[in-house]
Amino acid sequence: MAKGFYISKNMGLAGLLMGAVAGVVIIALAAVYDKEKTKNQNKPVDGVTTVSPTTSSTLSTPKNPWEYYRLPDSLSPVSYNITLWPRLVVNASTGLYIFTGQSDVVFRCEKETDLILIHCNKLNLTLLSGHRVRLTGLDGATAPNVISSWLQVKTEYLVIQLKGKLAAGKSYRLSTDFQGELADDLKGFYRSEYTEDGVKKVVATSQMQAVFPVTLIHQRGTVALSNGRDVETVNTTIDGAEVTKTRFEPTKRMSTYLLAFIVSDFAHITGSIENNNVLVRIWARRKAIAEGHGYYALNVTGPMLQFYEGYYNASYPLSKSDQIALPDFSAGAMENWGLITYRETALLYDPASSSVGNKETVLTVVAHELAHMWFGNLVTLRWWNDLWLNEGFASYVEYLGADYAEPTWNIKELIILYEVHKVFAVDALASSHPLSRKEEEVNRPDEISEMFNTISYSKVLYGSPCSRPSPTARFYMVLHSYLNEFAFNNTVYSDLWDHLQKAVLTTPGMSLPHTVHDIMNRWILQMGFPVVTIDTATGHITQKHFLLDPDSVVDRPSPYNYTWMVPIKWMKGGVEREQHWLLQETAGSEWVLANLNVSGYYRVNYDTDNWERLINQLTADHTVIPLINRAQIVDDAFNLARAKVINTTLALRTTRYLSQERDYIPWESAIRNLNYYILMFDRGQVYGMLQVGSSYNMIYQTFTVAEVLYNQINAISFACRMGVERCRVLTSVWFREWMLNPDHNPIHPNLKTTVYCNAIAAGGVEEWDFAWTMFKNATVATEAAKLRSALACTKVPWLLNRYLDYSLDPAKIRKQDCTSTISYIAHNVVGMPLAWDFIRARWSYIYTEYGGGSFSFSNLINGVTRRFSTEFELKQLKQFKEDNAGVGFGSGTLALEQAMEKTAANIKWVAENQEQVMNWFSNECT
Ligand SMILES: *[C@@H]1O[C@H](CO)[C@@H](O)[C@H](O)[C@H]1NC(C)=O
Ligand SMILES: *[C@@H]1O[C@H](CO)[C@@H](O)[C@H](O)[C@H]1NC(C)=O
Ligand SMILES: *[C@@H]1O[C@H](CO)[C@@H](O)[C@H](O)[C@H]1NC(C)=O
Ligand SMILES: *[C@@H]1O[C@H](CO)[C@@H](O)[C@H](O)[C@H]1NC(C)=O
Ligand SMILES: *[C@@H]1O[C@H](CO)[C@@H](O)[C@H](O)[C@H]1NC(C)=O
Ligand SMILES: *[C@@H]1O[C@H](CO)[C@@H](O)[C@H](O)[C@H]1NC(C)=O
Ligand SMILES: [Zn+2]
Repeated sequence: MAKGFYISKNMGLAGLLMGAVAGVVIIALAAVYDKEKTKNQNKPVDGVTTVSPTTSSTLSTPKNPWEYYRLPDSLSPVSYNITLWPRLVVNASTGLYIFTGQSDVVFRCEKETDLILIHCNKLNLTLLSGHRVRLTGLDGATAPNVISSWLQVKTEYLVIQLKGKLAAGKSYRLSTDFQGELADDLKGFYRSEYTEDGVKKVVATSQMQAVFPVTLIHQRGTVALSNGRDVETVNTTIDGAEVTKTRFEPTKRMSTYLLAFIVSDFAHITGSIENNNVLVRIWARRKAIAEGHGYYALNVTGPMLQFYEGYYNASYPLSKSDQIALPDFSAGAMENWGLITYRETALLYDPASSSVGNKETVLTVVAHELAHMWFGNLVTLRWWNDLWLNEGFASYVEYLGADYAEPTWNIKELIILYEVHKVFAVDALASSHPLSRKEEEVNRPDEISEMFNTISYSKVLYGSPCSRPSPTARFYMVLHSYLNEFAFNNTVYSDLWDHLQKAVLTTPGMSLPHTVHDIMNRWILQMGFPVVTIDTATGHITQKHFLLDPDSVVDRPSPYNYTWMVPIKWMKGGVEREQHWLLQETAGSEWVLANLNVSGYYRVNYDTDNWERLINQLTADHTVIPLINRAQIVDDAFNLARAKVINTTLALRTTRYLSQERDYIPWESAIRNLNYYILMFDRGQVYGMLQVGSSYNMIYQTFTVAEVLYNQINAISFACRMGVERCRVLTSVWFREWMLNPDHNPIHPNLKTTVYCNAIAAGGVEEWDFAWTMFKNATVATEAAKLRSALACTKVPWLLNRYLDYSLDPAKIRKQDCTSTISYIAHNVVGMPLAWDFIRARWSYIYTEYGGGSFSFSNLINGVTRRFSTEFELKQLKQFKEDNAGVGFGSGTLALEQAMEKTAANIKWVAENQEQVMNWFSNECT
């Protein structure tokens, strides 16, 4: 089952999270530090740096340092000593919820400057009256006086102008006392559920590395957590308030975006890494812990950390590992060093009500975040343009960690579905982008959040000769030397290449035709990937940039002219051959299969005879062909057909053998590809044909008896979707049973998603309202998530419209869930036009309310437009782009371009293939 989310980085969460005593109220405090004196505009700050008037970066050339988004390099922080005290009761004099704090930042001046720039986020922050910014020189340095300070709104800096210069090589301390409001505006600092957050402070702070000694002052009876272990907890009285003061060990040197603080009344369970003193804890709402929902995560964390210690050959860098589930969280999880935050659905598992898919989500998300403790945290990226270095690597390694913890799940095989196919789909568009962007292309917060996309997460390293760790252990040694050299520091991608190259040179018997840099740069500096065409009659092999729409125009120049160095692993007649960089061998009468186990990031096409031989082999005995390749043959064929490289009937024929297939992955691969047909046709007459659908009916039955669990789920859900009557009746009956006795849900956890959806689709307002009530009352997050998606399945337009309205009402649908709810509605064939109208009518509101930098805009646009396949829809899309040019599309900008490109391709595809598809299905029926 698909992972709920794969994005782990909540860019917004740079600062604090706090939960009130009740555990219901979670307060996220984004800013840690600052002072400001402009009246109402005062903002909190969480980074410190200064600027020299000479600034190196960027395209347009603003005159002043504070007009640049990136901080200059004239100052570098050494430590941030932060003390924070959030008040969870209304302040009598101001009528507001407030927090107060103190901050001492020690920084070193690298280049002479008379400016200090401090990045601020959206927090309203005021200096306590009577206090000023205090600048002190250390080690005999003299601090100049402050002339003035102001807030630069656009770039969100607090600018401090000094009377004299700070001297290069000297260190200074900037001290402030501040007070801020715990507003409920969901920006930076907020009360109530944690949801959304601006991105900007991360922009500022990400390249800053320092050490953070932290102290939290909190209400008695609550627990305070931060990155380090608590070293001292004392009860004390401050200004007449009885409080607890918790001091934490200073963090390691790290990026500010990894800092986190939480105050809550949460409970926890404890474990450890075997033979190690590292304290492992899982935190969550008291009730969730009491009901045992944290045990699964705890069970897998110890083994995974132990595995990573061996894999990276580097011990876990901290003294403890806390993981905490928050009722609201905009991303899936965030890898704060030593204090990882999760959505509840990504950390908690309830054996009684959660499905195996939910369990898998917990496993893989935890594996991903823990992998970051080394790759991403111990060694971090220099700038966001190289995000893939963090994310791609963690997205790969998570499968190894997950496999170690659940060795019987064969989870590594799923990489092909979850990562490779997903990224193939977007990277085949002319509007894709290179994995690594130029530093200067990524500046603004929305540009940064746009980097958190499928390509950064999934394209990595597949396809490189060095990336897929070879069993020779060579790769592990590379990682060790890389992590060792750059521990507590940051890198650019070429640092990794250097280490790989060194390994190649020092390994006896290992040689590459080119340097690692030459090979790998082609994969990361140009977008896309090749289709390799093998002519088995002549032995000729050629490559070409694979574009889903062959007529699309690639206007992005590539330094390599869209050619790649492709390592080709292959087999002939069932026998594995030596890897070739070029293949020069004719096949005779034997089939040739290339990209064995899909170790390379490319698609493969063959001459017609070889396609026939492969299809024959699949039918005769598919087990000779490796599992992953069976899935890949189907996926390559369907995509080559979409790109008009082969014909559609050939692609459809690769699915015939599936009636003998018992494994999940090839089935899932076929279903995902057939889903495209359904999306293209479910509003037209061909759909009737698909439904009558024939051979597929038979397939579903085979499917239903299949032992593989995911196949059963797939079979039932696909059969229902295709309108199989028995399926509709069955799901409705089960659901009705539940409605009659709401305290006893008779539906198996693994089937809930499908049953809920189909029963609501077949039902009316009664079913819908019941599901809504159950959604509102759900105390387990995974259960709520299933109901929320099922509510979008109704075919009743007014219910869908009402649900759309609910999606923008935070009292009904949490802000974190707004865009995915709209996407669910759009996935429904009846809901799609309603959702599209809804978005068009309210774009500016949604954009403002939910933040242009928010991640989910690309998902929203993808979700709503995935069915688009008519000229009229393309026109509407263009109009939409034009109409809202003034508002903007933020992190959805690229998605909008992709949507237009995909729509254009769909229009052509439907025109060209409708008849072939209809014929094929009607022939298969008879
Ligand atoms: C916080 O700042 C915003 C904009 O700067 C302003 O609209 C709002 O009224 C402020 N809130 C408070 C409570 O001062
Ligand atoms: C940090 O600041 C607090 C409060 O000002 C102080 O008590 C503490 O000693 C400081 N810690 C360090 C490591 O400077
Ligand atoms: C502080 O006070 C709380 C509640 O009054 C109590 O439970 C806790 O044990 C005290 N802690 C210390 C370190 O005295
Ligand atoms: C956690 O591990 C224990 C001990 O092996 C086992 O009894 C328990 O069922 C596991 N819990 C979960 C939720 O996997
Ligand atoms: C970080 O790495 C750079 C080289 O990339 C090096 O110059 C610098 O000294 C390192 N800093 C630390 C603190 O290790
Ligand atoms: C780039 O590739 C295209 C097509 O493969 C070819 O026509 C063109 O000459 C190449 N250009 C360069 C500069 O190599
Ligand atoms: Zn990640």
